Amino acid sequence: MKTKVIRMNPEHIDRNAMEEAGMILKKGGLVAFPTETVYGLGGNALDEEAAGKIYQAKGRPSDNPLIIHIADISDLKRIVKEVPEKAEKLAEAYWPGPLTMIFSKSEEVPYGTTGGMETVAVRMPDHPVALALIRAGGGYVAAPSANTSGRPSPTRSSHVEEDLDGKIDMILDGGEVGIGLESTIVDFTEDIPTILRPGYINQKMLEKIIGPVRMDKGLISADSKIRPKAPGMKYRHYAPKAELLVVEGKPQAVQKKIRELTREKLEAGCRVGIIATDESTFAYPEGIVKSIGTREQEETIARHLFGVLREFDDSGVDCIFSEAFDTPQMGQAIMNRLLKAAGQRKIKV
Ligand code: TXA
Ligand code: MG
Repeated sequence: MKTKVIRMNPEHIDRNAMEEAGMILKKGGLVAFPTETVYGLGGNALDEEAAGKIYQAKGRPSDNPLIIHIADISDLKRIVKEVPEKAEKLAEAYWPGPLTMIFSKSEEVPYGTTGGMETVAVRMPDHPVALALIRAGGGYVAAPSANTSGRPSPTRSSHVEEDLDGKIDMILDGGEVGIGLESTIVDFTEDIPTILRPGYINQKMLEKIIGPVRMDKGLISADSKIRPKAPGMKYRHYAPKAELLVVEGKPQAVQKKIRELTREKLEAGCRVGIIATDESTFAYPEGIVKSIGTREQEETIARHLFGVLREFDDSGVDCIFSEAFDTPQMGQAIMNRLLKAAGQRKIKV
């Protein structure tokens, strides 16, 4: 299959190209598109065959459910059994935006989309290209992140091409995404709304609108026997080719430790990568040092995390040492992705 890549200016959407993309979805094909979080791989959510193609293109285990993307709140009722009042409040506050909510599914949603589950995840993305595509494609677009299963989520159209060129019909290139980490997932099928995946919208922001919200137990104790409730969170996602170790502690102690570890590995003949920030690159005289962003603006760290992991995959390093990024708003989401990439390997100094 030849994958058509179309450059889309989010401020000035090419109507003809968008119509073509929508037609692909209506006919059961696949279109990758930008959202504010990461690029998604879209197919018609109400068409079981299209959903099947998504799993195949990504090499994704078929028990891992897809998120349905909508463009209008009024479209929600067709795919869910009921909308709890608290969910309605969150939708009002944060949709369109990086928030996914889980409901009991209606009969219109095929099991092929939900990985056999009775529940369905729904989100309204905050990106003009995504919203236009959803509308052009019939209103319900199932979209996981547009990466090969097991690779970091794509934050640029070139990442999507790396993984899916030749396997999907079209890629809409809307430039680099804004947030860079996938949406927060809140489960409304529990007695207390529960965060299944941390994201830009953190626990505090949720509680401000609806009161108490819980973290999924499988998230807090990542190495325990408790399985995360979101099937996708149990996989070792975002696994870089090199072995990754996260070093946590006060900045100077972390820098000293990473310098020592780097020396040891270099002496053993390994190629070493280091994930630092603009504030600390100077502290590492050896190894391939990449700045992920600045601690002054945590959103730069979130936005570049997956891209930096991909760059290290291309650079052929054998091991990577990363600083920890416990930043105020998105620290939990950033560390969740980073530690997953590290297979939970972390040391404290
Ligand atoms: O930001 C995002 O959410 C991106 C963009 C494209 O919208 N999408 C995304 O999709 O991250 P994906 O498929 O890569 O991650 C969806 C996660 C998986 O961990 C999956 O297991 C979980 O959501 N999930 C989906 N439906 C679920 C359900 N009914 N119950 C529990 N977890 C669910
Ligand atoms: Mg994903």
